Amino acid sequence: MQTLFDIKGKTVLITGGVHGLGRMIAEGMLRAGAKVYVTSRKADAAQAAEQELRSLGDCVALAADLATPAAAVALASEIKQREPRLHALINNAGKTWGAPLDQFPDKAWDPVFSVNVQGPFTLVRELLPALQAAGSQEEPARIINIGSLAGSVVERIGAFSYSASKAAIHHLSRVLAAEVAERHITVNVVVPGYFPTQMTAHIRKDDAEANKLIARIPLARLGHEDDIAGLCIFLCSRAGRYLTGTELYVDGGMSGCR
Ligand SMILES: NC(=O)c1ccc[n+]([C@@H]2O[C@H](COP(=O)([O-])OP(=O)(O)OC[C@H]3O[C@@H](n4cnc5c(N)ncnc54)[C@H](OP(=O)(O)O)[C@@H]3O)[C@@H](O)[C@H]2O)c1
Repeated sequence: MQTLFDIKGKTVLITGGVHGLGRMIAEGMLRAGAKVYVTSRKADAAQAAEQELRSLGDCVALAADLATPAAAVALASEIKQREPRLHALINNAGKTWGAPLDQFPDKAWDPVFSVNVQGPFTLVRELLPALQAAGSQEEPARIINIGSLAGSVVERIGAFSYSASKAAIHHLSRVLAAEVAERHITVNVVVPGYFPTQMTAHIRKDDAEANKLIARIPLARLGHEDDIAGLCIFLCSRAGRYLTGTELYVDGGMSGCR
C-alpha cells in the first residue's frame, strides 16, 4: 500500500532532464524512489548526467534531439522497448527565442513550436500504450506538460513565439486530458514562474533586471528545486491522482496575486 505522497517504484520519463528545471525534477524524483529516464540533445552530457544521477537512484539518460517528430517517435520507441509500463511522462524540454518585436524573425516560430508543442504531442501519442499499461482507474498514469507563466499572462520578455507556444501547450493539455481520461491517464500543466536556469540567465546576469524581477514576485525570490520537484512528485503520487486538465502555478504568486 503506497502512502499518500509515495512515488517509489514508478517509472518516469523527463524530457530534457539533464539540465535546468528538468534536472531539478529528476533529482527530486530519484530521491523519492522513482526510476527516472532523462534526455539531452548531447550524448556526452547525457552520459555524464546519468553517472551523476545514479548516485541518487535508478536513472537512465538517453540522447534525443526532439526538434522533429521523427526524433520523438524514435525516443518513444526506445522507451517502449525498455519499459512496457510508463507511469509518468513529463514533457519538460523547451526552447525559447528572444528579440525585439521589430526584429523578431520568422525563423523563430517553427523550431520553438516543434520542441514546445509538437514534440510533446508526438511523445504522448506514441507513448499511449505504455502509459495505458501502467494506469488504472484507481491509479492513472500521468502526463505533466511544463508550461510557462508567459503562456498565461502577459510577460513582456520579447519571446513572442515562446509565449504563444506555451499558451498552445496549456490548451492542448486540456484537450488531451479530456481525450485520455477514459484510458486512465491524467494530463496536467505545471506552470513555472521564474527559476534560475539557462533560460533565465540573461535576466539574472544583470543586477538591475534581476532586482526588478524579484520586486514583481510576491514571495520575493526565484523558484527552488524543491518547489518544482515537489509539485511534480505530488502530481505523480496517489495524492495527485484526481487532478486532470488543470494548470498548477509554481510562481511565487506572480499570477494569483495580480
Ligand atoms: N526557467 C524558468 O524560469 C522557466 C519558466 C517557465 C517555464 N520554463 C520551462 O521549463 C522547461 C525547462 O526549461 P529550463 O528553464 O530548464 O531551460 P534550459 O536550462 O534552457 O533547458 C532547456 C531544456 O530543454 C532541452 N531542449 C531544448 N531544445 C531541445 C531539443 N531540440 N530537443 C530536446 N531537448 C531540448 C534542453 O536539453 P539539452 O540542452 O540537454 O539538450 C534542456 O534540458 C521549458 O519547457 C521551459 O519553457 C522554465
